[in-house]
Amino acid sequence: MFEIVGKKELTHLVWQIEIKAPRIAKKRKAGQFVLLRMNEQGERIPLTIVNSDDEAGTITVIVQEVGKSTSILGGMKVGSSILDVVGPLGMPTHIENYGTVVCVGGGIGTAVTYPIGAALKEAGCKVISIVGSRSKDLLILEDEMRGVSDELHITTDDGSSGHHGFVTDVLGEFIKEGLKIDLVIAVGPIPMMRAVSEVTRPSAINTMVSLNPIMVDGTGMCGACRVTIGGENKFVCVDGPEFDGHLVDFEELVMRNRSYFKEEKMAVEEYTYHEGTRCYDKKGDD
Ligand code: FAD
Ligand code: FES
Ligand code: MG
Repeated sequence: MFEIVGKKELTHLVWQIEIKAPRIAKKRKAGQFVLLRMNEQGERIPLTIVNSDDEAGTITVIVQEVGKSTSILGGMKVGSSILDVVGPLGMPTHIENYGTVVCVGGGIGTAVTYPIGAALKEAGCKVISIVGSRSKDLLILEDEMRGVSDELHITTDDGSSGHHGFVTDVLGEFIKEGLKIDLVIAVGPIPMMRAVSEVTRPSAINTMVSLNPIMVDGTGMCGACRVTIGGENKFVCVDGPEFDGHLVDFEELVMRNRSYFKEEKMAVEEYTYHEGTRCYDKKGDD
């Protein structure tokens, strides 16, 4: 069992959670994730390891409630325990001094961009970050991103903070101005990662994206997380999660992520109907 030792609401339905997991805390590297199963009947869900504290033996994850399992986790209290936390999984981000790196985070994707940005900064890169969200109150990790960036640019769809528009507007401007960019790392909703890859494609700027397919076993055996990269089959849990954005078949990823849409909707409705709340404390059965 893995005890929740800290919990903070970052914004509506987005939680930063510290979990006691000393062995994972010791080994984890930027870009890796864990698979969590909240209870005996629960499914496994992947979450990025945002941070770790080797001395305290804890890892930090940030979860956005989007369905049943993430809502169960979001409803868990400090002192309660998660049944399984498996990891660290996935290939760590390749970190070196690339020169100038633009780190793009969209919505909850900033939780993934932050540890990567921190590691790149430590390796000596010039880190220019662009963090976007729908509106000001949905922005997460702004101070943390500022702390690891040489420059931080905020964008909001409604103009409530920073540039009124999309992360791709700011990135497009940099390219137009002739800024020499050695690497772009983009993490966020699939349409955003796809759009970033299209913006950088004409100038052939090396672009990495962190993919978020459905995962089950996390060991490359079940095939749930299969994606097509440059015409080849890859498994995100073992070969990724980061891939060259110019080679990703985003269309297929979107289609495969929708595979269980009906069941996912039913799971949330049933859960809400039976419990009147999405809090695990009030009894959760998956
Ligand atoms: P559901 O209603 O079951 O599903 C909602 C949507 O989430 C689905 O349509 C599907 O696209 C996706 N999804 C469903 N089940 C899974 C699954 N088993 N694995 C992956 N995706 C699924 N979310 C965060 O909030 N914070 C993170 O740091 C984070 N890191 C991730 C890292 C990786 C490598 C991957 C692959 C995903 C990450 N996600 C993260 C997404 C998170 O795993 C999903 O939001 C979660 O599994 C949804 O579960 P649910 O039961 O609450 O929602
Ligand atoms: Fe099963 Fe990747 S999650 S192969
Ligand atoms: Mg689910």
